[in-house]
Amino acid sequence: MDKNFPLSGFSSASVHSGHEQDPLYAHLTPIYAASTFVYDEAEQGMRRFSGKEEGYIYSRWGNPTFAEAENKIAALESFGLKDEKGNALQLKALLQSSGMAAINTLMLMNLKAGDKILTHFSLYGGTEELLRTVLPALGITAIINDLRDINIAEEAFKKNPGIKMLYLETPANPTIQCVDIEELTFIAKKYGAIVACDNTFATPYLQQPFQFGVDFVIHSTTKFLNGHGTSIGGVILGKDIEFMNTRGQLIHKTLGGNANPFDAFLLVNGMKTLEVRMERHCHNAMEVAHFLDQHKAIGKVNYNGLSSHPDYLITTKQMRHPGAILSFELKGGLQAGIDFMNKLKMCTRTVSLGTCDTLLSHPASMTHFSVPKEAREKYGITDGLIRMSVGIENIQDIIHDLNQALN
Ligand SMILES: Cc1ncc(COP(=O)(O)O)c(C=O)c1O
Repeated sequence: MDKNFPLSGFSSASVHSGHEQDPLYAHLTPIYAASTFVYDEAEQGMRRFSGKEEGYIYSRWGNPTFAEAENKIAALESFGLKDEKGNALQLKALLQSSGMAAINTLMLMNLKAGDKILTHFSLYGGTEELLRTVLPALGITAIINDLRDINIAEEAFKKNPGIKMLYLETPANPTIQCVDIEELTFIAKKYGAIVACDNTFATPYLQQPFQFGVDFVIHSTTKFLNGHGTSIGGVILGKDIEFMNTRGQLIHKTLGGNANPFDAFLLVNGMKTLEVRMERHCHNAMEVAHFLDQHKAIGKVNYNGLSSHPDYLITTKQMRHPGAILSFELKGGLQAGIDFMNKLKMCTRTVSLGTCDTLLSHPASMTHFSVPKEAREKYGITDGLIRMSVGIENIQDIIHDLNQALN
């Protein structure tokens, strides 16, 4: 593709951006399964190591298959956005082995002993565990509040001058709670804090946090970006290119959380269909939410696309569509949950999300089986709660399966 051709559509960018012509003219960038790269002469090695010549050195530091995935994600997260000077926003991405590797690398790039993170309830369990058990041992502590109330965020900044980072995850896993990226970023900037946002549930097609002034975005690419459940992966994106190329690259290569070429290849190809998949995922999710909302066996449907959801307005402000994750409560409690899961005939019983097939999990008998009932109920995980990642099958088949399992 001619690099100067302006790509005006998101799918065009998903398909074409990030791609470099392969030196041997392979149509797709190959899986560069090489740990290291060679030099024509010793002087060339010297130039590469000293940064005087661009080129690959060692795959923990960078690799051509990673580069295509990184440049594609950067193009999508910045699609149509401008920087403060009115130029097209430039981002630098670093591909990681998992979403958790991305979050750890992000934290160590930016924080040191004594620093505080301000964040909200209802984060992905792994992130919450990192903040609660791992980072405090390094002297980095988290203040956890209900950041759906902007005044609480402002108060926290006033009381704690050591807050260095505001960390957001919206919509959050598993509750689909949403927080206002723009307003929270505005407050964080007033107090000199950096802002990072986990955009895994939304993907850049539904929400672009850089539009609201955040400094970093992270993803678990394991989910909708890969889209097919074929690999674990993560990415960190930053808009301070100088920082990403120096401190960012240093922490990336010394922590060693790099991806691998096969997973990067799968991710590149998965991302090409992001828009078409997300349109279908979201359309199906809305239909499923309306169906469940009217079913007599269901007590409550939690979907941020329903006007009854407390975060409906924030969702419509910052997301193109509300996403494809929802949860619902079966009136019959634990046994009803188990019976429902056992009766599913097409949808898949599993705990992940973001794949082409519809996935359902029953936290009380699966992920949260060992968590005492009172503790999990505090987070809204009741006995009859079912979480659903709505897939791209034909909607009548998804509803048929749910209906027969509910009746
Ligand atoms: C919102 C969110 N962030 C981060 C992660 C961690 O990603 P990974 O499992 O790829 O390490 C997950 C995993 O489910 C997630 O849902």
